[in-house]
Amino acid sequence: MINFVVNDKEVHSEQPADTPLLWVIREELGLTGTKFGCGIAQCGACTVFLDGRPLRSCSLPVSALGGGDVTTIEAIAGPEAEAVQRAWVARDVPQCGYCQSGQVMSAVALLREVKKPSDRDIDLAMNGNICRCAAYIRIRAAIKDAARALEG
Ligand code: FES
Ligand code: FES
Repeated sequence: MINFVVNDKEVHSEQPADTPLLWVIREELGLTGTKFGCGIAQCGACTVFLDGRPLRSCSLPVSALGGGDVTTIEAIAGPEAEAVQRAWVARDVPQCGYCQSGQVMSAVALLREVKKPSDRDIDLAMNGNICRCAAYIRIRAAIKDAARALEG
């Protein structure tokens, strides 16, 4: 049995040790906000936080969690998450929406680290999040809006 925490709830998974965390999140726990895109850590659709840091859940076996604390899009909270969510709505960022939970997770992680991100900071932080609808301009603008809102 593999023990870890997802969104403040203890999980005791009986899945094989090499099962990707994404499978447990979606199939076992029913948290479908986290998406499967490429399955090879290239698109960012499956981004979650492990102990507060973003990672690609499609490529992390549950055996590597080490009792860690996982947060999914369903449970992100705090000022950065609220500012990002408000900015996303105001800018009408999503098109098809498929990539968006991953985009939001990466944006929140960025704003927790960098209070006033430059275009380059945004490009570096969001580089691994692919959007097939090419909403990149709105994503960048929304991150800047969120940063300004957090400044007060
Ligand atoms: S599904 Fe994990 S990075 Fe694409
Ligand atoms: S909004 Fe469609 S893939 Fe990003």
